[in-house]
Amino acid sequence: MNFREFRHRLFGIVLTPLAVFGPFSFIRVWANKLRGVTIKKGVWIGYLAFIDQPPDVKESLVEIHEGVGVGFRNNIFAHDSSPVWRGEKCVFKKVVIEKNVYLGANVTIMPGVRIGEGAVVGACSLVNKDVPPYTVVAGVPAKPIKKIIEKDGKKLVVPLE
Ligand SMILES: CC(C)(COP(=O)(O)OP(=O)(O)OC[C@H]1O[C@@H](n2cnc3c(N)ncnc32)[C@H](O)[C@@H]1OP(=O)(O)O)[C@@H](O)C(=O)NCCC(=O)NCCS
Repeated sequence: MNFREFRHRLFGIVLTPLAVFGPFSFIRVWANKLRGVTIKKGVWIGYLAFIDQPPDVKESLVEIHEGVGVGFRNNIFAHDSSPVWRGEKCVFKKVVIEKNVYLGANVTIMPGVRIGEGAVVGACSLVNKDVPPYTVVAGVPAKPIKKIIEKDGKKLVVPLE
């Protein structure tokens, strides 16, 4: 490991605990941004949420758009290291969480997933497929349970047809 890599890893060792255990959301947001996660305005990140961004990957692997709420103890994964155990390379796939999404507590998001604008993910769900905009999903694996419609200027949560 050369000096540059060492400095990079040291930086990661300091920032990752702050990103996960930081006492306030703004500290967790700031630390995640310094780790390389793309985080837009008005994002709230819950305590113990882990957002994947390996220190040796330059590209931002997780994109979190305006007004997103990331719940307590979430795991947002953008890599799969299982191929490494059979001698292949680690696989990286970008995760995108669009505007005003709400992720409940204990949600796990798998690599490559895109969560559409205004969607809601129920507590303890495993999201392994894209979520359409304004859809409420829940379960392991997560499936649509309700949708969100606009009526008289208000957003309403209604059953699926
Ligand atoms: C997803 C959520 C928003 C749905 O709320 P809701 O619209 O009131 O949904 P309902 O309670 O009417 O449930 C509708 C169905 O989905 C199921 N469901 C709801 N939430 C679920 C979840 N998290 N996982 C699995 N199934 C769930 C219900 O059991 C119900 O199934 P049924 O029709 O077979 O009985 C809510 O359940 C939730 O998980 N909120 C997040 C709370 C949280 O994480 N708080 C801490 C944040 S840090």
